[in-house]
Amino acid sequence: MVIATAVRLATRMADLGTESAFEVLARARQLEREGHHIIHMEIGEPDFPTPQHVKDAANDALAADETKYGPSAGIMPCREAVAAHVSETHGVPITPEQVVITPGAKPPIFYATLALVDEGDEVLLPDPGFPIYESVVAFVGGRPISVPLSEANEFRFEVAELERRITSRTKMIVLNSPQNPTGSVLTAEDVAGIANLAREHDLWVISDEIYSRLLFTGDAPSILSEPGMAERTVLVDGFSKAYSMTGWRLGYGVMPEDVAEAMAQLQNNCSSCTTTFVQHAGIAALHGPQDSVDEMVAAFRSRRDLVVGRLNEMPGVHCLSPHGAFYVFPRVEVPGLTSKEIADYLLERSGVAILAGTAFGAAGEGYLRLSIATATEQLEVGLDRIAQGLAELRAGQRL
Ligand SMILES: Cc1ncc(COP(=O)(O)O)c(C=O)c1O
Repeated sequence: MVIATAVRLATRMADLGTESAFEVLARARQLEREGHHIIHMEIGEPDFPTPQHVKDAANDALAADETKYGPSAGIMPCREAVAAHVSETHGVPITPEQVVITPGAKPPIFYATLALVDEGDEVLLPDPGFPIYESVVAFVGGRPISVPLSEANEFRFEVAELERRITSRTKMIVLNSPQNPTGSVLTAEDVAGIANLAREHDLWVISDEIYSRLLFTGDAPSILSEPGMAERTVLVDGFSKAYSMTGWRLGYGVMPEDVAEAMAQLQNNCSSCTTTFVQHAGIAALHGPQDSVDEMVAAFRSRRDLVVGRLNEMPGVHCLSPHGAFYVFPRVEVPGLTSKEIADYLLERSGVAILAGTAFGAAGEGYLRLSIATATEQLEVGLDRIAQGLAELRAGQRL
């Protein structure tokens, strides 16, 4: 007989958060097992296959027995490919020694925070923003400081708002452009202003550019390209979104060499290294044809237009057109209900899985996040269900 005992976890576990997209996905899957039909607009995962030449490269690497431990910082050809790519896209010389290859883009966020943030250090974070930033800052004993992003400023950081929150304990700013969940993109002026603050106040920057290839208009200036910023920036990017490789787990960080050594040491202690044959697939993704990325962006652009257009026709809904990534972030008002209550009703009663804006921070109250990384036909059904569900809620129906 097994006797259940309450496990006393380490105190620090109380500070660790989670990404609620995975929780909503789990609930949606449970509803599906119970026989309900669900439209998935919760998870940030492209509905396109990984390009064939990338899969071929992984198969070739497997056939060549590239199946053993590799160096903790990544295999040299992969570090070289990333260094060349980032040097070209950012216009700054990057050496392979500045690159650490990781299982996805989440690890370099975690490692950089572990390596740079001390107990009590303050970190300025976008709110709404990717929830993992706040979670890991709190986990390492730092203080997450929310900087609200307003719809009036198209959900971009306001330099004055950032500056107002800088204290003698501020250690780092986290940028994410194009942004999850709002799809906002920082302008060249924003980036220059933030770089000024970072230099003036001796701050580190994590620049999470995982959506850098998913842009609908113009470009997404990077703080890494600003004068003097390569010495104080950890660039985070990866293959999950641009090459539809979420399950492969492949990402990277680019940073000053001594921080890269610390990050490699953290990885050595944690996962030892990133899967070797997967790194060969990453090299093929960077060196091979890029048409799959262009095709995906074109599909997301037309879906964005469809979804934003339909949402703006619904009573009580207002939605900006995002400049990048694959999310839309409408303001949705139903008197007396929170975003979470609206999102729960839409999942449980209308069969459409989306996220409450508050899954990304307190400033997300009043908003919902819809992923458009779902086939157009599915999106159309999802939008019909959202319109119907919101009409029911406005008529007074509740869960
Ligand atoms: C802003 C942001 N950063 C990082 C990640 C993590 O990417 P990966 O799946 O490569 O770890 C995500 C995934 O949703 C994201 O939205």
